[in-house]
Amino acid sequence: MSQPPSTQVLPHELPASLREAGLDHWIREPLDDAVDRRRRIIMPPAAATTGTPARDYQGALLAEAKHDDTVFMMGDNPELPKMPERPALRDFYLLRFGPIPRTHLLQSARVARENGLGEKVIMACLLHDIAIAGLLSANHGYWGAQLVAPYVDEEVAWAIEKHEALRYFADESVGYRYPEAYIDYFGPDYRPPEYIRREAEAARRHRWYMTSRLVTINDIYSFDPGVTVGWEEFEDVVGRNFKQPEEGLGFDGSAVAHMWRTMIWPNNFL
Ligand SMILES: [Fe+2]
Ligand SMILES: [Fe+2]
Repeated sequence: MSQPPSTQVLPHELPASLREAGLDHWIREPLDDAVDRRRRIIMPPAAATTGTPARDYQGALLAEAKHDDTVFMMGDNPELPKMPERPALRDFYLLRFGPIPRTHLLQSARVARENGLGEKVIMACLLHDIAIAGLLSANHGYWGAQLVAPYVDEEVAWAIEKHEALRYFADESVGYRYPEAYIDYFGPDYRPPEYIRREAEAARRHRWYMTSRLVTINDIYSFDPGVTVGWEEFEDVVGRNFKQPEEGLGFDGSAVAHMWRTMIWPNNFL
């Protein structure tokens, strides 16, 4: 039996600078499933490379695009599951977020529910780190609040934004201590910057303070890989508390649609 001829094109010899830097995998060689038989380069964004050695390879990656059969990644990255045309929050959880942040969010929401908290707090817990899960880690509370603001109660978005600052500061009156995990993450001598201190002080005087504080209290700082929590557990809460746009997240013309599109196509060159 003869096999059908393969459509696979042999990879180019990569320049030594890219190979030695371990960047081979940032160039997707044409595989059997590549419709147009072209190689696709992923140029990592400035937010991921500034301050790292990876920035030095921008020129070499750019030069690769000069090959006739090589283009930059635009649109669907075949390495990622394809998103539906009108993606819902659930699709980002299941098709884009990595297993660690996804489980972290679901575990936090479950703990909030087990503690008998209201749906606003459960919703805020479920969403509090979605920026880390799909977009950016630095300033994640602010990015996350912006992402969801058009779709949730104002109090939920506020709580997500303020957890960024509040998590660094203890509130013994409700049993919140500085997270042990942060001593590992940042070292025992880490002090949050002054603007974060001011943000936390202002948040403490706000009428919604406890909503955000409850996000920090139910934040699971130690990831337990043994516990799996299904998205279905929160389908009802999401249905009541997240206004899913009919056109899909990323396509509703909202002020934050581009941020959702960035999570759908995170490897687009421009
Ligand atoms: Fe967080
Ligand atoms: Fe968290």
